[in-house]
Amino acid sequence: MIQDEQLLISLLEALPLPVLVIDHDLMLRYANQYALRLHDTQTPSLPLPLEQVLQNTALVQLVQKCIATGMTQSSTEDGDGVMWRATVTPLLSSTASPATQRPAYVVLTLEDLAAVRRAERAQRDFIANISHELRTPLTSVRLLAETLEDAIDTDPEKAQAFVEKIEVEVQYLTSLVAELLELSGLESGHVMMNMEPLEAERLVREVMARMLPLAQRHRVLLRTEIEQGKTLVVADSKQIPRVLVNLVHNAIKFTPSGGQIVIGTRRLPGQSLQSFFVRDTGVGIRPEELPRIFERFYKTNRSRTKEDFVGPGGGGAGLGLAIARQVVEAHGGRISAESTVGQGSTFLFTLPIAIRS
Ligand SMILES: Nc1ncnc2c1ncn2[C@@H]1O[C@H](COP(=O)(O)OP(=O)(O)O)[C@@H](O)[C@H]1O
Ligand SMILES: [Mg+2]
Repeated sequence: MIQDEQLLISLLEALPLPVLVIDHDLMLRYANQYALRLHDTQTPSLPLPLEQVLQNTALVQLVQKCIATGMTQSSTEDGDGVMWRATVTPLLSSTASPATQRPAYVVLTLEDLAAVRRAERAQRDFIANISHELRTPLTSVRLLAETLEDAIDTDPEKAQAFVEKIEVEVQYLTSLVAELLELSGLESGHVMMNMEPLEAERLVREVMARMLPLAQRHRVLLRTEIEQGKTLVVADSKQIPRVLVNLVHNAIKFTPSGGQIVIGTRRLPGQSLQSFFVRDTGVGIRPEELPRIFERFYKTNRSRTKEDFVGPGGGGAGLGLAIARQVVEAHGGRISAESTVGQGSTFLFTLPIAIRS
């Protein structure tokens, strides 16, 4: 079919997996770039005995078996962090005598299964997390409903209190489901950002106004810090304020009364990026937990009460920062956090600056 050898070689080089061609004397005849990269020493000059290149006896045996039987062989090595699926396929050349049944060459391909396994594990964790987050409030609702049934005739006041508690749980569940749908929409790229030039200062001031009542209720001071606020950023006028609201919401949640929260913006020197930040004097985040807080469902303190913080950004399921990251990255920005335990945290993200026409 394809006669051009160069074309065949280019084809093998283009494959995103290691490919090795071995002859029936167990000599390695060809290895594509991908395979050579796995070999830490210098590029070997071929042909070479396969055993010299592959230190893995099981793999060499797999190749031998393919040569002996003329049939495709495959095995999976799953353990110790290395996960490969090896497949050896005979190449029957048109000139080989059919009587011997011995293939002139065999091809060994190696597929990295680590990524597949990681995805499978993430999927399992995700389902386990959702189930956990749903079960806890559902159990409360069930228990509350049972108690309510008993109290409804005898103690109307107590019954009223139970109804309110049920409402809190239902609100939590509603916001959890809304956050899950939002995150899945963002992750699958189905949520379109409606980009327009927006004034950095206005974004900050609007969020400040929206969050002031909650901050006052929790007796934390909320103020702004604006440098070059007139700068126009390219952003979605609904999504970015929600990211800021989420960050301020978290800051209020994790800052004891008497503390201080700053919402700010400034231009990054020498770059066409505007930075937005939310800084608090709250409990802080331990260094080992810091890299994980943007993961779905990650919470540093699972025992915290959530009653006060139902609503946007405060669902308490650990999805707020994962959503924030998706939104910021969909804008071409980056989000990060810095923190010192006992002193406070700063969350910052960047947005591209609009080019004035
Ligand atoms: N300002 C903050 N100070 C301390 N910890 C924070 C702050 N913001 C977020 N965190 C930590 O990151 C976790 C994830 O935040 P988030 O995704 O918003 O989830 P949630 O608010 O539902 O707990 C929080 O549970 C908390 O442990
Ligand atoms: Mg949150």
